[in-house]
Amino acid sequence: MVFDIKVNNKTIKAKRGEYILTVLNRNGIKIPTLCYLNDLFPAGSCRICIVEVEGKDELITACDHFVEEWMSIKTHSPKVIKARKTILELLIANHPNDCLYCDKNGDCELQNLAEELNITEHNFFKSNKNYKIDITSPALIFDPGKCILCGRCVRICNEVIGVSAIDILKDGENTFVATTNKKDLNHSGCVNCGQCTLVCPTAAFSNKNQFGKIQTALNNKEICKIAFYSSDILISIAQKLNLNPDKKLKLIINAAIRNLGFDKVFDINLAYQLTVEEQADEIISKINNSDNEIMFLSYCPAWMKYAEENMQNVYKNISSCKSPEQIMASLLKTYFADNQKLSPKNIHTTLITSCTASKYEIQKDEFITDNQQNIDTVLTTKEFLKLIKLYGIDINNIKPENTDLLLNDDKNSDKIIFSNYAEDIIKALHLKLTGEKLSEFKINKNEKNKLQYLFNETKIGKNTFRTFIVTGIDNLKNLIKDIKKENNVYNIIEFMMCPNGCVEGGGQFFSYFVNSFDSSSMIIEKSKNEYINYDFTGIHKFAEKYFENNKKRLLHRK
Ligand code: FES
Repeated sequence: MVFDIKVNNKTIKAKRGEYILTVLNRNGIKIPTLCYLNDLFPAGSCRICIVEVEGKDELITACDHFVEEWMSIKTHSPKVIKARKTILELLIANHPNDCLYCDKNGDCELQNLAEELNITEHNFFKSNKNYKIDITSPALIFDPGKCILCGRCVRICNEVIGVSAIDILKDGENTFVATTNKKDLNHSGCVNCGQCTLVCPTAAFSNKNQFGKIQTALNNKEICKIAFYSSDILISIAQKLNLNPDKKLKLIINAAIRNLGFDKVFDINLAYQLTVEEQADEIISKINNSDNEIMFLSYCPAWMKYAEENMQNVYKNISSCKSPEQIMASLLKTYFADNQKLSPKNIHTTLITSCTASKYEIQKDEFITDNQQNIDTVLTTKEFLKLIKLYGIDINNIKPENTDLLLNDDKNSDKIIFSNYAEDIIKALHLKLTGEKLSEFKINKNEKNKLQYLFNETKIGKNTFRTFIVTGIDNLKNLIKDIKKENNVYNIIEFMMCPNGCVEGGGQFFSYFVNSFDSSSMIIEKSKNEYINYDFTGIHKFAEKYFENNKKRLLHRK
């Protein structure tokens, strides 16, 4: 039912069952929030979203109160502003004053709010708590001193990702965020997805950068410095800088990377195609052995860590193929090194990625060859733009440059691939099994039992392939329970830890839950126009020629 309410003396439309905050946002009225997350049940813990409702003595929180027909609301009355200021001053009283050195400086919700509410002095005294900063994780830093107890990190980790590595704990009078098992972050079950850093309004959770190592490499004239990246980073850079995620941006990013001091810049298109083809072959060999266990496509380092530690039964059914990023790194330290007559020891590879968990993955034994990491260092998208700023590179005034080619006749290297991995696997399977291209692949949201996954059923010859794309551990567990074994039916699950997959990884700039930014619709919109729909023929020729003896080592995990 739609009805009128008054907000700041103007009449606006509201619907029964809507929260006040939803109505305000839809009508372009902005009020601050600190604990609120889009699409999740409101926590109502920070109280910064308070508003005044005529006839009520108490101010009420807009995020968790339903709008009612009789309401006349004031969002910025003197009483509201005074109360918001007090709430914020209390939060700031216990917050370190190290903004100048903080990872979130200039991008901190608390800092922005202090400016917005014109907070100019400390009116409350600090408590003298001594917090220990946790730097044990390869990808993340946890500084409890900067935590404002909004609970966003805990909710993302528990309700969205489903890993539950952190929680809000109590010790006497004290309430604090800590790892659920009370161990350090590195031993907490955290999978390094970095979603906590995206929703944290301060820098209680932040990314751990490898600037020192990267800058040392960039200053070393004796080695060849190579950067490579996936197209996902372009989406976030485009959104952050208000540009188009198109081919021109890709060429500008190439130039910026070379200006940082890298000698070569590659994308991962070729490696992506090799991954898809190899994994399709793996599936075909399972069909030949009538092995109809659920097949899990490997791609996500955070998922691999979770499965390894918590779901051994599933872990054994995850494809042994490396991710495109790891395949590319293997190629750079073998094929490229051979071609350029370089020792792999004299090559430094830097992956620029949306994924924070890559920092964990690169140090795993299975990705180390002859005591050398295949990927030496990782830069997240956010860190990459910071480095660009540090080196004084003006992205708006830079001449576009081409991507380097691993194969001289690689026709896909100047393209942008936003992968739909499960879809590409089915296309490759169809081509391999029938010799014909698949004319249509439609992926549907499953409505039947409200599970959060995408679903497709494709018949190829006498076999049926059911493909599922799913995020969130709880969704995955429900899906696995739901799947039944049937003859000639092969179930393929692409699971990703981050909501919406790599494009919304922890190393990007925005989270849908805070910024309402839906990257997938941006990609879908763009893909209608200019992104490629490549075919796989030809790539195997390269594989056959080069991988004859060492295909397993280059394309598969140990
Ligand atoms: Fe409403 Fe925190 S945003 S209580």
